[in-house]
Amino acid sequence: MRFHDKIVLLTGAATGLGRATSELLASEGARLFLVDRAAEALQSLVASLSASGCQAQGIVGDASHQDTVDAAVAAAMRPTGRIDILINNAGINPTGTVVDTDAAQWASTIDVNLKSAYLFSHSVIPLMVKQGGGVIVNTASIAGQRASTAEAAYAVSKAAIIMLSRTTARDFAGQGIRCNALCPGVLETVMADRRTRMSADDVAKRSAKAAALVPMGRLGRYDEVAKCLAFLASDDASYVNGAQLTVDGALTA
Ligand SMILES: NC(=O)c1ccc[n+]([C@@H]2O[C@H](COP(=O)([O-])OP(=O)(O)OC[C@H]3O[C@@H](n4cnc5c(N)ncnc54)[C@H](O)[C@@H]3O)[C@@H](O)[C@H]2O)c1
Repeated sequence: MRFHDKIVLLTGAATGLGRATSELLASEGARLFLVDRAAEALQSLVASLSASGCQAQGIVGDASHQDTVDAAVAAAMRPTGRIDILINNAGINPTGTVVDTDAAQWASTIDVNLKSAYLFSHSVIPLMVKQGGGVIVNTASIAGQRASTAEAAYAVSKAAIIMLSRTTARDFAGQGIRCNALCPGVLETVMADRRTRMSADDVAKRSAKAAALVPMGRLGRYDEVAKCLAFLASDDASYVNGAQLTVDGALTA
């Protein structure tokens, strides 16, 4: 039970990696405060965790808005006055080169993928300093490590969150805070926002094409990537700080 009674605040919890991570941490005793703007999916996750005896509360809202941050931090602090682990995982995955990304799409991508992590870190780190330490994991991507095609805003946001993780690690290591970036490769489903713009057939074709490029011959499963995220969040990673953990089946090796 690596997370027994640990207070965990996690954004982008309702589906995909956030959901798999929530289920794993809950099974290891965490008390979860889960943020997502997808109200129905979040409520269904909280209901299923609660039905299996886990402690979870949902906070519905946009993770890039200060009022959501304030509500989530207040809820998470209520039981013990602590927040032990912050996981900034909310993300969207728009497509487009720098030319065909309009200013609104550019801004919303940076807001959701980067500003949300800034806002949560900005609010939670002073509390972690006061309580004597804490752990932050930021979900980045291999898209932030090397250029991908026609994902300009996404890739820039992920490169920036890697650097946010590294600067946070340096700035607060002396106060007992660890901060790392998780960099998944191509995972089993395309992200929820992109699914709304693609037919099921196109999703399947895109997944098969991506899997063929991976030396391991398959896409990453959410459950196996969640284990890597949990490692970074746990005391097993007690000397891992400012790192990028790439989990991509050797795609970028
Ligand atoms: N799926 C992949 O292939 C892949 C690869 C590398 C990195 N990632 C990263 O992993 C993380 C999780 O992605 P996923 O694959 O689980 O995708 P997903 O779309 O299933 O999950 C993202 C979650 O974030 C939520 N969300 C989006 N915008 C939000 C906002 N403004 N406020 C609150 N919640 C918001 C969504 O509702 C969703 O539940 C993301 O940061 C993503 O960039 C995914």
